[in-house]
Amino acid sequence: MAGKLYGIGIGPGDPGLLTLKAKEILDRTGTIVCPVKKEGEASTALEIVRKAVNISGKRIVPLVFAMEGGREQFEECGRKAGDVLMDILSKGEDAAVITLGDVSVYSTYMYLDGYVSSKGFETEIIPGVTSFSYAAALAKIPLMLGDEGLAVITPKGRSIEHALEGFENIVVMKSGKHMKEMSAAMTARGIPHENAVVVSRAGMEGQHIGVIDERREFNYFTTTIIKKVMR
Ligand SMILES: C[S@@+](CC[C@H](N)C(=O)[O-])C[C@H]1O[C@@H](n2cnc3c(N)ncnc32)[C@H](O)[C@@H]1O
Repeated sequence: MAGKLYGIGIGPGDPGLLTLKAKEILDRTGTIVCPVKKEGEASTALEIVRKAVNISGKRIVPLVFAMEGGREQFEECGRKAGDVLMDILSKGEDAAVITLGDVSVYSTYMYLDGYVSSKGFETEIIPGVTSFSYAAALAKIPLMLGDEGLAVITPKGRSIEHALEGFENIVVMKSGKHMKEMSAAMTARGIPHENAVVVSRAGMEGQHIGVIDERREFNYFTTTIIKKVMR
């Protein structure tokens, strides 16, 4: 019988935010798969899992997902990664792909799930705490109240302006290098800068919670919450 593929959301950084179900599956699965952007890169997700799960004796399989080579290269990586996974599953072994935050939020796992299940393999997705839920918790602010809406975006094109036009609250993922655009979009709409919270490396070493600051260097693990009205 073929093995089963699990896509596991491990939360944003604090190992205490791994769900019981995620831990239970990771404890009993022999192969842990971590998507990385290039060969030899350390997996942040694995570093988090390691703090909550004993991974000694488990097979760790890094899978390269190049993000900068364009659509074709990305799809090629997906096919190769899918084939590696199917090879493991065909031998009757289960495999758990770990992903930061939640699996349904900007995660490469969803491509793998589609590919592997289209070939007849069983898969299961275990949701995790999203980075923006944790960011809101750390900043002690609501993402939305009453009948307010929330847009979750990346800073692509004019997405910040568009989201601010249509929603009371916005979450800007991957916002570390986009302080200037966020600041300008808020100023243009008369939204005070105190209404934005930048949360960087939540639950990781170097965690930072602060305001939009164009002079500060923020890394990739940065999420910004902008609220039109701060109650
Ligand atoms: C590819 S997306 C993954 C999102 C993830 N699946 C989730 O549910 O949050 C990467 C982005 O998630 C956010 N992120 C992930 N971990 C974070 C953390 N510990 N602190 C702040 N933002 C984080 C950042 O915006 C980062 O650029």
